[in-house]
Amino acid sequence: MGVTVLSWPSDSELDKIRKIVAEMAGVAVDVVRIVVSPYRICPLGAHIDHQGGTVSAMTVDKGIILGFVPSGDPQVLLKSGQFSGQVSFRVDQIQLPKHIDKSNGNTLEECKWGSYAKGALYALQRGGNHLKQGIIGFICGTKGLDSSGLSSSAAVGVAYLLALESANNLNISPTENIEYDRLIENEYLGLKNGILDQSAILLSSYGCLTFMDCKTKKHKLIHPPKLEMEKKSETKIPYKILLAFSGLKQALTTNPGYNRRVSECREAAKILLKASGKEVEPILSNVEQEEYEAHKSKLEPDLARRAEHYFSENMRVIKGLEAWGSGNFEEFGKLISASGLSSIQNYECGCEPLIQLYEILIRTPGVYGARFSGAGFRGCCVAFVKAEYAEEASLFVKKEYLKVQPHLASYLNQETSVVICDAGDCARII
Ligand code: GLA
Repeated sequence: MGVTVLSWPSDSELDKIRKIVAEMAGVAVDVVRIVVSPYRICPLGAHIDHQGGTVSAMTVDKGIILGFVPSGDPQVLLKSGQFSGQVSFRVDQIQLPKHIDKSNGNTLEECKWGSYAKGALYALQRGGNHLKQGIIGFICGTKGLDSSGLSSSAAVGVAYLLALESANNLNISPTENIEYDRLIENEYLGLKNGILDQSAILLSSYGCLTFMDCKTKKHKLIHPPKLEMEKKSETKIPYKILLAFSGLKQALTTNPGYNRRVSECREAAKILLKASGKEVEPILSNVEQEEYEAHKSKLEPDLARRAEHYFSENMRVIKGLEAWGSGNFEEFGKLISASGLSSIQNYECGCEPLIQLYEILIRTPGVYGARFSGAGFRGCCVAFVKAEYAEEASLFVKKEYLKVQPHLASYLNQETSVVICDAGDCARII
């Protein structure tokens, strides 16, 4: 097999960032370090990570780039390609969670984007690390892809963690960084999400699907079979990933819907566990399938649907693992679309434009399967498509979405309203 050259980030993107940082810090271009932190997709295993379920994930060849140099003292100074202003703070200042430290709950744009960097410092401090070295950095995400359900927030959090660790010569494992990013989101920002996003970003490997048991935190990387690739006598992956944007953007931390669903799942777990005579943490992964079957009639209709999503999604992930491992993309795609439907009908988290995009995608020529990406309250749908159909599929989706959502579609740049991606690699310093 040949060596795969990833198309992202390109040399010109990196050069641009190195120049900006060199100018900010007054140093030579070649001392600038770069973190690349890709966006992730979750084909199967949606909304079950916070309940300790098993999820599947992969990164794409788009994401966050953070250029930085150690600042030589405790001062952090950051600028962003997307947001105005600059963020500055010291790494020897103790950080408190945002809901406790009201002075941090500033609504200024520059302070909001800076909260992930402060959150990274908070997490490292919580882990017992005493940082001495700040960074001077410039952060920049792939244009138009922020707040899209591709987990740009975890990609940003991971990028700051890796940069601060590198500047302070801290040797931290991916497993520890998964926990640190959890501290940023759950404790510092107060979002009760699971560990899917950062696990995907930190553990993925080009061309593999990552399976992660969010209860035991064990993961494995599954390659599609070599046979399939060799038959086609190519090293290229035979599918593309389509991202179809709805035009709706809202950060999850500002939407109460996500935490509400987490509470409902816990409530369902509480009832099922009580009926089974078990006294353990009320999360659905603590309920056995048989216990669920025996006691599900005790759940009110809403809670019954949330639990049904959890148990059926876990099953789809297990089937998906087999399908992916045997190179059966048709079957894998069907499972993704079934997962999408369960998110709509059982988890009830889709909004109209995303449901319309989902419906368009599953009838698009060449598409194996589709679902909405991330939590489903905004952002984009993700689809696996036969590589040779990618362009045609992208045009079809743009045309059809314009018909059903002319207003939202008018906000989208028609060039980038559907993006064709390849698989990506894990977050790293280059
Ligand atoms: C968001 C959360 C994740 C996960 C997904 C839905 O991305 O941050 O923890 O729950 O939604 O699968």
